[in-house]
Amino acid sequence: MSETVFTAQNLTKKYKQLRALDDVRMEVRRGDIYGFVGENGAGKTTLIRVLAGLAAPSGGQITLFGKDSNLAKERRRIGGMVESPAVYPNFTAKENLEVCRLQRGIADKGSIQRALETVNLTYTGKKKAKNFSLGMKQRLGLAMALLGDPEFLILDEPVNGLDPAGIMEFRELLRKLNAERGITILISSHLLGELFQLATNYGFIHRGKMLEQITLAELNAKFKKQLYIRVDDAPKAASLLAPEKLEVECLPANILRISGGPPSNAGLVRTLVSGGVAVEEVVLRGEALEDYYMSLIGGRH
Ligand SMILES: Nc1ncnc2c1ncn2[C@@H]1O[C@H](COP(=O)(O)OP(=O)(O)OP(=O)(O)O)[C@@H](O)[C@H]1O
Ligand SMILES: [Mg+2]
Repeated sequence: MSETVFTAQNLTKKYKQLRALDDVRMEVRRGDIYGFVGENGAGKTTLIRVLAGLAAPSGGQITLFGKDSNLAKERRRIGGMVESPAVYPNFTAKENLEVCRLQRGIADKGSIQRALETVNLTYTGKKKAKNFSLGMKQRLGLAMALLGDPEFLILDEPVNGLDPAGIMEFRELLRKLNAERGITILISSHLLGELFQLATNYGFIHRGKMLEQITLAELNAKFKKQLYIRVDDAPKAASLLAPEKLEVECLPANILRISGGPPSNAGLVRTLVSGGVAVEEVVLRGEALEDYYMSLIGGRH
């Protein structure tokens, strides 16, 4: 079994009568990209604040990197983007990172340039943060979180307000950090679709209660995926896919709707391409995921 980076047992956080966290059990393992899903007010930020030491729990235990004491020391191994990052509007990206480095007592000056390169913000030069686009601001927030080379990155709804291209770019960045540097990531969202195929593990929280924790493979198996593929020759593509045990439907504009749970999307695309079909676009229908989430919380409203 791989090492745990974060666990919560019977974790409770009360605000007067309200249980913002109610007996939560949670486990993030090294190497995971953990998608933390819940609607507005579910308790995501509260849990993250407790994890980060910004709020004290009312009951229960947490561990960080397997330790249950001296957590302040363990928290030095964590980088976070919780709530909107404190960015100085009249400072450049570099200046903001320098302030952040000094505040956090990180000795390594080189970490600034590395963080800028990682999030692709080296080109901003003298531009002040107030003139950054939302996507650039989010990337600056991520660069701040990456100072000090954390092993565990915590991101609270980092793609809120980003357009689809911005979301895609951010996802790719996180995938790279996870794959190339082995950084464990906890990322929250109120939209399951935003995390889908990025997160390797999912935790669904609703009204302070952890409803379910499952892996991507388990999630994939639970609902019938629908894949939309736009190709240059739909009939040819359909015949190439005929040997696979799939339901393939030809829609207008050379779009195929594929359901029945293809073993792997990449394998499917390979089959088509090696058969001489150009694949223009692949879309996994997100609504099915939202349906799944709704079925989990169904009857609880
Ligand atoms: N400081 C506080 N005092 C009182 N109640 C609070 C406080 N912080 C959070 N809450 C309440 O706890 C519950 C959980 O809030 P939380 O911010 O954790 O939700 P969330 O899942 O992050 O939602 P969102 O998607 O809107 O960010 C909400 O009902 C909220 O009103
Ligand atoms: Mg929140």
